[in-house]
Amino acid sequence: MPDPIQKPERLNGAGAKVIHLAPRTYSPVAQALHWVTVAFVFMLVPVGLYMSYRGNELNIWDATTNGLYSAHKLGGFLVLLIVIGRLVYRFQNPPPADEPTLEPWQRMASHATHWSLYGLLILVPLMGWIGISLYGARSIFGLFDLPALWSVNQEASKTAFLLHDILGKIMGLLIVVHIAAALYHHFHRKDNVLRRMLPPTKG
Ligand code: HEM
Ligand code: HEM
Repeated sequence: MPDPIQKPERLNGAGAKVIHLAPRTYSPVAQALHWVTVAFVFMLVPVGLYMSYRGNELNIWDATTNGLYSAHKLGGFLVLLIVIGRLVYRFQNPPPADEPTLEPWQRMASHATHWSLYGLLILVPLMGWIGISLYGARSIFGLFDLPALWSVNQEASKTAFLLHDILGKIMGLLIVVHIAAALYHHFHRKDNVLRRMLPPTKG
């Protein structure tokens, strides 16, 4: 069955028929890696905020707080591995060319946002990992320890956690912009930008 996104009768901005020979959507692997990352980040941010509030503000250090810390550390560590794998895959399998409907500033803005997100998806978990190494809290559910990236220095861990917090908030802001742009393209511009990150639909 032909992919509806690839139908040759799609019109470009000038109303001319366009036949696309190059792939116009992200590959299923690239899409899966994108949405798995999204699922992790959407869980890590609220869990990170809540566990830190429960521990540092309410001063409740019970099994729930510790369990949330372990889940956050493990989930964040997995994101780091997934994003490294994602970047390796991306270099070997370049993404589709930019949507032809994009204006030059939109191309630049989307590339800048995507590369900033990739950078933050590496830096934020790395800072968390350095933070727990410096603090000496590498245990995951008491079952095993994440490897140490630094020797213990609890004073220095404050700086690492501060950077983890600030960079995490910058990432949150960029994600809001990124989602707003995707929705704007889909519902207002009605172009292919969101669809190329989604599995093909029938019809
Ligand atoms: C993409 C991955 C990650 C995201 C989006 C993320 C996000 C967050 C957020 C939003 C907070 C709350 C900030 C605050 O209020 O202090 C937080 C706290 C924290 N995160 Fe992460 N995190 C990630 C990865 C990691 C990793 C890999 C580790 C460790 C291996 C980690 C360890 C921590 C710790 C220990 C805290 C609490 C710091 C404190 O108690 O002051 N995070 N994280
Ligand atoms: C509901 C949430 C989200 C939607 C609807 C969405 C949508 C999209 C779309 C449509 C693209 C392809 C843009 C294009 O090149 O035409 C894309 C790419 C991308 N998204 Fe998202 N996204 C979401 C959440 C996130 C989150 C949470 C992150 C990371 C923190 C993220 C990181 C990225 C990155 C790095 C790319 C570039 C992919 C590449 O070219 O390698 N996205 N997203």
